[in-house]
Amino acid sequence: MKKLKLTTIMLLAFMLILSACGTSEKSNSDKNGTDDGKKKLRIVTDAAYAPFEYLDKGEVTGFSVDFITAVAKEAGYEFDLANTGWDPLFIELEKEIADIGISSITITDERKETYDFSVPYFLSTNKILIPKDSDIKSAEDLKDKTVAVQSATTGQEAAEGLLGKNSSQIKKFENNNLAILELKSGGADAVIADNTVIEEYVKNNPKDNFIVIEDVDAFEQEFYGLMFPKGSKLKAEFDKAVNAIFENGTYAKIYEEWFNVEPNIKVLKDQQ
Ligand code: ARG
Repeated sequence: MKKLKLTTIMLLAFMLILSACGTSEKSNSDKNGTDDGKKKLRIVTDAAYAPFEYLDKGEVTGFSVDFITAVAKEAGYEFDLANTGWDPLFIELEKEIADIGISSITITDERKETYDFSVPYFLSTNKILIPKDSDIKSAEDLKDKTVAVQSATTGQEAAEGLLGKNSSQIKKFENNNLAILELKSGGADAVIADNTVIEEYVKNNPKDNFIVIEDVDAFEQEFYGLMFPKGSKLKAEFDKAVNAIFENGTYAKIYEEWFNVEPNIKVLKDQQ
């Protein structure tokens, strides 16, 4: 009897400690996040890159938005998505103002020096957008042409690879839509950007009379990743969540909604 009492008291004491911990955790998380103690994340993007991230009636939408919504849910996080623009996105992550960047960001060795990346979630490559009546047939033909790109992208790097780093034939813009406008107004002969984005543009703007050409010898395969501040603990949790939605069919569902084809998940997983 005495023994039982002691155990009961110990159990009660233990429960008291547990509930005390619970309360303090709760009051902490109430300030800025979900009720399971996880903070609400600040996720940043440059919403001028349809169909990945773009503004529709003032709202950021696109494949990336549906993708990050599913991944964050899987990882148990709430978030605010801020349309900061491209350059500020990198600054915010470097200064740890933002928690995650999602913006069709190619995983590159150079960026890896300053940031961490999730496992790859999308395969991409640069291609060339030109007017239908252009005489450009390959990347090589760009050598005596003017090329518009979004600055600080792999499109800019690709153009520099062809024309030289400080070439005056490369016109750099704050976002990709402005680069396309330059082509439209005749200020450039071509735009180099991610294939899906310029292919989508051609599909949606038939009156512009643009076409996309590819040059597999000139442009490499690229993979998009979520970008984190260096050393972020979120990487492990989000890698796990990305893999979970690869496995449970959610990724394929979102992918098919946006691109009308099945994703090649194997090619992504082979990169891990
Ligand atoms: N994939 C390219 C890069 O990482 C271009 C991405 C541009 N994204 C955007 N939302 N503007 O450099």
